[in-house]
Amino acid sequence: MIKLLSHLSFVAITTPDVDASVKFYEEQVGLQVTDRIDGAVYLRCWGDYYRYSVVVMPGDEPALHTAGWRTSSPEALEEAVKRLEAEGVEGEWSDEHTIGRAYRFIGPQGHPMTLHWDVEHYQSGSDIASIYPDRPQRRSSHAGAPRQLDHVTIAAKDVDEFAAWYERVLGFRIMARTILDEAPISVFSVLTTNEKSHDLGVVLDGSTRAGRVNHFAFWVDTREELLIAADVLMENGTAIEYGPSIHGIGEQNFLYYREPSSLRIELNTGGYRNYVPDWQPNTWKPSLGSNNFYRNGTMPMSMTESFPPADGPSATEEGVPDEIKDALLNPYAKEGRG
Ligand SMILES: [Fe+2]
Repeated sequence: MIKLLSHLSFVAITTPDVDASVKFYEEQVGLQVTDRIDGAVYLRCWGDYYRYSVVVMPGDEPALHTAGWRTSSPEALEEAVKRLEAEGVEGEWSDEHTIGRAYRFIGPQGHPMTLHWDVEHYQSGSDIASIYPDRPQRRSSHAGAPRQLDHVTIAAKDVDEFAAWYERVLGFRIMARTILDEAPISVFSVLTTNEKSHDLGVVLDGSTRAGRVNHFAFWVDTREELLIAADVLMENGTAIEYGPSIHGIGEQNFLYYREPSSLRIELNTGGYRNYVPDWQPNTWKPSLGSNNFYRNGTMPMSMTESFPPADGPSATEEGVPDEIKDALLNPYAKEGRG
């Protein structure tokens, strides 16, 4: 199979209060608005090569409207669509702001995705032009502002099935997964279209609601910037939900916080690069430090919440059954672990 996808190009989210979310991205995260069209607001990080990487749209609930993936060539876009339609996917072609012809579809577990080749490479005005040719614009003077969009992590009822489908149909590499210590239940997996440890994550969703998202992530160049970003958030009254720490899987430094809609945002830096074309995914367990490299941090229960909120009658409010939650949240507490 030819290489179909090159990277995550944008995420579009819905929020009940667009103005509040946009204000937060501008003032606390350090993004800038590029366009406002029909109620949707387009934002970029200073180092994004395209015009925007985040779209904030009005909606009743915090949710993923779509995740955009740039293909590796125009031919790869046609091939990817052919492969999707051979799987029975019924997507549609649309015309997206500055990216032109795009193919929108809903994946088998309800996740809205967009594939495109055309894109507008960002050209800054002279007032914010960089002195360095490789940069799309001058480095932000906002403390801890992310350089670019990094990844999106969705929630799915069957983690392994989700990963296998995206590997088989769209050529993602599965890099690792986590199964519980107590039972052979997959609770997490990471996939990538490139050398990054992941640009698509998937967490277990015990709710009856399809197509949910757990978080999306921005990238900063250094751990120092990540710590400064945490400082800026704290100083502005935004709680850090989890971290700063290091993930075992991927080895990125991380921290998580919430934007005004309650949607979770992650900040990442560091981690390895992996170029191995026939990589065989490793299986981790929570007690090995899959989520916390130091095997000492207890993940807050709130981290199991995905968006929009779960509504399933058989699920817990957050969509993850209690026994799984316990195994995830307290992996180092039991005897004989780690
Ligand atoms: Fe993440």
